[in-house]
Amino acid sequence: MSFDKRVALVTGSSSGIGEAIAVAFAAEGAAVVVNGRDPGRIARVVARIRDAGGQAIGVRADVANKSEVEGLIASARDAFGRVDILVNNAGGDGSPKQVEEISEDDWDRVLGANLKSVFLVTQAVLPLLKQQGDGKIVNISSQAGRAMTILGGPAYSAAKAGVQAFSRQVAREVAPFGINVNVVAPGIIRSSPRLDSVWDNVPRELRARYLSDIPIGRLGENAEIVAAVLFLASPGASYLVGATLDVNGGRWML
Ligand SMILES: NC(=O)c1ccc[n+]([C@@H]2O[C@H](COP(=O)([O-])OP(=O)(O)OC[C@H]3O[C@@H](n4cnc5c(N)ncnc54)[C@H](OP(=O)(O)O)[C@@H]3O)[C@@H](O)[C@H]2O)c1
Repeated sequence: MSFDKRVALVTGSSSGIGEAIAVAFAAEGAAVVVNGRDPGRIARVVARIRDAGGQAIGVRADVANKSEVEGLIASARDAFGRVDILVNNAGGDGSPKQVEEISEDDWDRVLGANLKSVFLVTQAVLPLLKQQGDGKIVNISSQAGRAMTILGGPAYSAAKAGVQAFSRQVAREVAPFGINVNVVAPGIIRSSPRLDSVWDNVPRELRARYLSDIPIGRLGENAEIVAAVLFLASPGASYLVGATLDVNGGRWML
């Protein structure tokens, strides 16, 4: 799949799934905008892409903050002149809590990183995509948006369900401009050593019960999310509008 001459902005690409997506786009010829909040992690991913012969810039921005998002889009445009592909990947839930333990700040932080960010970056990039008459937006939700999860909490689930609903509505709005908006909803993915240790800390019985609900019988890998994202960002996905790809080893069928 070639993304030669395409520009891909991947939010939250300084680690985990986002890093794997950014590296894959660069390997397929795209110029990539790497984003996160930690300059050191961003620099590491940019160097990884450049060392492999790819093209990338790093932009530090909190994607839950409107003015920082505007700066992010301006930096992308200044560096590459356009944006063809936006992957709204930033997010996660550092401290899953039960409903009575969630503070207002927790709620705002989780909804900010996982849902408000999708709204802000989408809104900021749309004028560029409309001007070009072409564009792909892929939003990363989660199976937590539709079913109970053992690694998230109510705030995370609400945010990820919101990503799916938001995406369908926007997909309908912008399809006439040649812009496709779709969603990837991963199951639990071994995205980084940090995720591995979170998973390892889940009680053994709960882990076994969770795995027995997955027909494939294992957690997912970054490459399996990357494949879905690259497909949705490719010309081959031109007739997909507002779809959610559930990349979860078949957990839905149960
Ligand atoms: N791993 C899974 O099992 C799984 C399952 C379903 C869905 N997902 C979703 O997949 C996405 C990636 O998850 P992951 O497992 O790869 O997590 P991760 O390794 O923690 O990566 C999250 C990325 O998002 C960035 N980020 C977080 N908040 C941000 C903000 N406000 N502004 C800018 N960047 C921000 C982080 O960088 P900084 O911290 O430096 O900002 C990091 O680059 C998330 O949306 C997550 O909800 C993951």
